[in-house]
Amino acid sequence: MLIDIIAGARPNFIKIAPIVSAIVEKQNEGVPIEYRLVHTGQHYDKKMSHDFFEQLGIPDPDHNLEAGSGTQAEQTGKIMIGYEKLLLEKPCDLCIVVGDVTSTMACSIAAKKINNIKVAHVEGGIRSGDWTMPEEINRIVTDSITDYFFTTSERANSNLRKSGIADNQIYFVGNTMIDTLYKQMPRFIQPAVWESENLTEKGYIVMTLHRPANVDDTSKLGELINEIVRSAKGIPLVFPVHPRTAKMLADSGIDTSKLTMTEPLSYLEFNYLVQKAMAVVTDSGGITEEATVMGVPCMTLRDSTERPETCDIGTNELLGTDPAAIPPAFEKLLAKEWKKGGIPELWDGKTAGRIVQHIIDIFEVQ
Ligand code: UD1
Repeated sequence: MLIDIIAGARPNFIKIAPIVSAIVEKQNEGVPIEYRLVHTGQHYDKKMSHDFFEQLGIPDPDHNLEAGSGTQAEQTGKIMIGYEKLLLEKPCDLCIVVGDVTSTMACSIAAKKINNIKVAHVEGGIRSGDWTMPEEINRIVTDSITDYFFTTSERANSNLRKSGIADNQIYFVGNTMIDTLYKQMPRFIQPAVWESENLTEKGYIVMTLHRPANVDDTSKLGELINEIVRSAKGIPLVFPVHPRTAKMLADSGIDTSKLTMTEPLSYLEFNYLVQKAMAVVTDSGGITEEATVMGVPCMTLRDSTERPETCDIGTNELLGTDPAAIPPAFEKLLAKEWKKGGIPELWDGKTAGRIVQHIIDIFEVQ
């Protein structure tokens, strides 16, 4: 059988790496299973894309659709047109999409509309309930046409059942992002900022901000940054800046002098920093999962999360986007009263193997 694996943006690369490895493992055992790695080009900078492929040992993509930047519709359109062309030349038997980025939705639609190609959604079923997030629309649209759901939590399973998905389409397998985390942990790399800023273990905080709701309005962005700086009381704040945020900060007049800003870091460098940090302040979803597994206190500057297990079980706490919530959270952290947290079920580093075995069983590959 031929499987297309779709990857478009930074968090996708982390999620597909173990799936590619698990397929190759099966190939080496003689299972007749082929794959085509399709990079949509949604993220294209060296630091947002190429470095991830290199560090995670992902083979070069077989196809690059080179969609690049644009509005939501422009990006969706370019990816759909590119992927449809590829499918018309040579269709696949199964299209695997991961996560919730624009590429996930665009490729699932293109596949489904060509001869009803089967779609598998890795990380299906998660919901924030916030329809202002482009990712939430991507999740809902993708799940509405997905055939096989590979899920990360019981909550995701229940969301799917509530929307009318049959039990035999849902495979609770765990989290491929955590497969990558466990595999790469022994290879984490100390980034240059460690020495240049004299960072010490548990002596600094990592922050990331890139959600449109937090960064696209510079007065909001400024308020959040000011409050974080005030609340950190001189503890170094290391801030790898996403390109979207960098564009907004440029010429904004926001005082960033108290932040240690870096370019986007590679996977191995970023997670080195998270693992040794006193805490993380973020508006990302994936980072809350990694912080949970590494037991690092995590403050999320969002009003909702599609990953509630990181709060119920893990180290994450949702602060919302009102800067007033930041000082009390920092006080709790500095008083060493942050919860300890545990690891969600099946986040054990073996998820991709389970996914590939299910696919072999479903398609009766032999
Ligand atoms: C996307 C995902 C988001 C994910 C994030 C991780 C969607 C809707 N959002 O958001 O879920 O958490 O990736 O990074 O898919 N840009 C560059 N270089 C790049 C990529 C982007 O400069 O390599 C610029 C673009 O020009 C654009 C901005 O960054 O102005 C945003 O990129 P885009 O892909 O639209 O969404 P992200 O904010 O990265």
